[in-house]
Amino acid sequence: MEIEKRRSVLIPQQDQNWQDRPEWFFNREHTDTYEQWYEGRYKRAEVWQKKIMEQLVSKDKRVKTLLEFGCGTARFTRWWKNIGIEATGGDISPLMLSQAVDLFDGDLVMADSHHMPFKDNTFDSLAFITTFEYYKDPVKVIREAARVAKCGIAMGMMNRNSTKVVRRRVQEVFGLNPFYLTATFYTPAMLTKIIDEALKGRDYSIEWTCTGLPNWFPVQQWNLPLGDFFGLYVKLND
Ligand SMILES: C[S@@+](CC[C@H](N)C(=O)[O-])C[C@H]1O[C@@H](n2cnc3c(N)ncnc32)[C@H](O)[C@@H]1O
Repeated sequence: MEIEKRRSVLIPQQDQNWQDRPEWFFNREHTDTYEQWYEGRYKRAEVWQKKIMEQLVSKDKRVKTLLEFGCGTARFTRWWKNIGIEATGGDISPLMLSQAVDLFDGDLVMADSHHMPFKDNTFDSLAFITTFEYYKDPVKVIREAARVAKCGIAMGMMNRNSTKVVRRRVQEVFGLNPFYLTATFYTPAMLTKIIDEALKGRDYSIEWTCTGLPNWFPVQQWNLPLGDFFGLYVKLND
């Protein structure tokens, strides 16, 4: 049976907020400028983030399809095809997805990462890029990811071991930064502990690397847990 793809409005243009939720990704003031923010001074950071995610994921030759949850406006979702992976996106925010539908050609789903509306083993890999920081029950989300993905879970996120985290927390005290109020920052070791708890009894291996080092620094990527961003790949071996 052929399924016809239809475009419909997820949320009326005049609505500024979704269900009175305070998080920035439910507020149009922030969601509608998200792409510009990345096109500006965060461009260099994004180039390195993509570079390390490619290194990690492309080592697992089994990965041909991927579901990216917390896909937002689809910045990464529309990039995966550059490294030969067919991507699908999912996000909880109709405001972020309203941008994604115009920017991404593939399938999108509106849902919560804690309850992925997919059967077991639907995709080769799950991916989370700068979204895991917002999850209330990270163990549950990893279990969902390991249920829906056959081969692995790719994760990219802000590193707790970064001077930017201190700066953000100070800005929050003065009401100047609404973006991370509900975020929990992890280090690779903290995240590994959560994965170990979630995947007890499973056979898997973990690899990670860091980027987001200062411009003047001799290297832009290393395997020490310092830097603004780290990428981690959980390879499911069973
Ligand atoms: C910083 S944005 C990252 C977007 C995109 N991955 C990127 O790298 O540009 C975080 C995204 O996580 C989404 N998000 C937060 N909590 C979520 C949840 N429980 N389930 C699904 N998506 C969630 C938000 O709506 C937002 O789009």
